[in-house]
Amino acid sequence: MSEQVSFGYENVTPEEKVQRVGAVFSSVAKNYDVMNDAMSAGMHRLWKDKFVRRVKPQPGEQILDMAGGTGDIAFRLAARGATVTVSDINQDMLDVGIERAMDKGLDSLVWSRQNAEELSFPSRFFDAYTIAFGIRNVTHIDKALAEAYRVLKHGGRFFCLEFSTTEWPGFKEVYDFYSHQLVPRIGQAIAGDADSYRYLIESIRRFPPMPEFEQMIRDAGFTRTRVEPILGGLVAIHSGWKV
Ligand SMILES: C[S@@+](CC[C@H](N)C(=O)[O-])C[C@H]1O[C@@H](n2cnc3c(N)ncnc32)[C@H](O)[C@@H]1O
Repeated sequence: MSEQVSFGYENVTPEEKVQRVGAVFSSVAKNYDVMNDAMSAGMHRLWKDKFVRRVKPQPGEQILDMAGGTGDIAFRLAARGATVTVSDINQDMLDVGIERAMDKGLDSLVWSRQNAEELSFPSRFFDAYTIAFGIRNVTHIDKALAEAYRVLKHGGRFFCLEFSTTEWPGFKEVYDFYSHQLVPRIGQAIAGDADSYRYLIESIRRFPPMPEFEQMIRDAGFTRTRVEPILGGLVAIHSGWKV
């Protein structure tokens, strides 16, 4: 039987996943930023601020923001003086990001369409690699982690911000109801697209739990790995070093 991977709660071929994830992000690109605020009540901004504080970008550092979408993480990294390359597989998401950067008068960012599983960057080029809410959409996570390791310099650091599963009793039930019942309706009301938001929620449930994902980061070669759960693990910051 051919290889099967998860697309939300469905199992599909890797080719179908790439195509359907592409369709999801092309569909949500224009409303992506307003939907993030609506779905998280603005909290995604605080998570992203905290994430970038953990990265500790330094002026002049070369940082790759992978699955960078519309630029939220890249703008924060650049504000701290880093030289940032924003990469994403989806040109529609990047186009929204480029437009936002122009509105902000930010012309120092490099925008590059790339598949996280197969980067065209040279080995040992970047000081840090960031990926926020992106890795669960990648078809072969192990290949993306191997590429992250390859393009980092020795002494380089890896940071991933991703949804996980909250362990807080009570909050978990409320979150389950909110995410499965309300998020697709909010997606329908604001973006006219319930299905894409249903996928985004389902993909969170299929993503490996924090310890398992940390092990995958270690398997890629990273050391001194760390997980920092936020809101009981609703969201987590994973990090590791290439030494
Ligand atoms: C939820 S968005 C996150 C965007 C941004 N990092 C943020 O935090 O707002 C996920 C992004 O992952 C991108 N993506 C999915 N698969 C990818 C892949 N294989 N390589 C690179 N980017 C990918 C999508 O195109 C989308 O822009």
